[in-house]
Amino acid sequence: MAERFIEKRLASMKGRSHARVVATARGMDGVINLAGGDPDFDTPGHITDALKKAIAEGKTHYPPPHGLPDLRSAIAEYHGKHDVDWEAGDVTVTAGSGVSLFASTAGTVNPGEEVVLLEPYFMAYSDLVEYIGAREVGVPLDEDEGFRLDIEALNERVTGKTKMIVLCNPNNPSGTVFTKEELKGIADVAIDEDLLVLSDEVYCEFVWDGREHTTIASLPGMRERTIISSSFSKTFAMTGWRLGYVIAEKNLTSRIQKIPLGYRTNTFVQIAGVAAMQGSWEPVKAMAEEYDRRRRFMVPRLSEIEGINCHNPEGAFYLFPNIGGPSMGSEEFCESLLKEKKILARPGTAFGVTGESHMRIPLIKPVEVLEEIAQSIEEHARKITG
Ligand SMILES: Cc1ncc(COP(=O)(O)O)c(C=O)c1O
Repeated sequence: MAERFIEKRLASMKGRSHARVVATARGMDGVINLAGGDPDFDTPGHITDALKKAIAEGKTHYPPPHGLPDLRSAIAEYHGKHDVDWEAGDVTVTAGSGVSLFASTAGTVNPGEEVVLLEPYFMAYSDLVEYIGAREVGVPLDEDEGFRLDIEALNERVTGKTKMIVLCNPNNPSGTVFTKEELKGIADVAIDEDLLVLSDEVYCEFVWDGREHTTIASLPGMRERTIISSSFSKTFAMTGWRLGYVIAEKNLTSRIQKIPLGYRTNTFVQIAGVAAMQGSWEPVKAMAEEYDRRRRFMVPRLSEIEGINCHNPEGAFYLFPNIGGPSMGSEEFCESLLKEKKILARPGTAFGVTGESHMRIPLIKPVEVLEEIAQSIEEHARKITG
């Protein structure tokens, strides 16, 4: 295929560091796949029932362009519990929050502007910034302090070209749940420098040890400069349904809606989305409890391995252990772990340069399988260190 057929920005995008590891896994049998964050739970029955009913009732026609009014209201009401008032008109429904993130960045950031990413970050942010032709500015979370944000470090990286700070709260992959003080620090920078904050809140139902989710939009002066991106994928184990959304003040939302993305998410999926929001939240609670159980098992289990130190995440369902002990880079470690132990995990470098010496382990397997995984990592690390 002629290279000239490919649009310039796309053609110039660099490959991700984990691409080689993932490519190696293709064609291998019996691999334990930890590459993504797809929950191992089924979507709760009352949600699938609502979808079946909607189809049986012929709810198979075009929905309104930016979401069913009932769903937009239900989403606004749900996020209202985080101490900020939203209305249905502030919500745009999308086919998953991958689309929300695209719409939120492509609709606001110009080529040449700078976007601050807190490292380690969810890799899609970096791809989006690169695709837009903006510049990624990394601010490392301080691992020694438990992946905390140093507001001074953030302040130092903001320039006249900065447009947006991307905040993943709780953070994938470090599990950081940003404290009110950290959020206030980010808000002060955003207000002083007139910046937008893109707040990715897909893991907001998964916060541990009695913590509570705070959205930065609830801080004084932040509602008008925050874009919330979230989805049903993780909260309700609905990754295959593709249902997400953007929330922002109407004058921002209405502009973002102009991006010719063909929004209109499936009508019957949206109806099921209303059932998810308005039905029982017990299944969500049960999933959260199980993730937490896995976390409490796996963090000490990994940390007892010589050369590995596993930070205890405060939220989300990932571990990001420091594997600095085994004397090789994280990419090589993950590649050899795949070849020898058939475990596919993403190397830390997939989450920004400061992710070196780490790997990401999603808690999407039962405890028994997590024990097998830990055993394999232990044997592998021991073999490498000799
Ligand atoms: C932080 C974060 N945001 C967004 C997404 C995308 O989720 P979806 O497109 O399924 O809504 C993911 C998926 O892993 C994620 O980890």
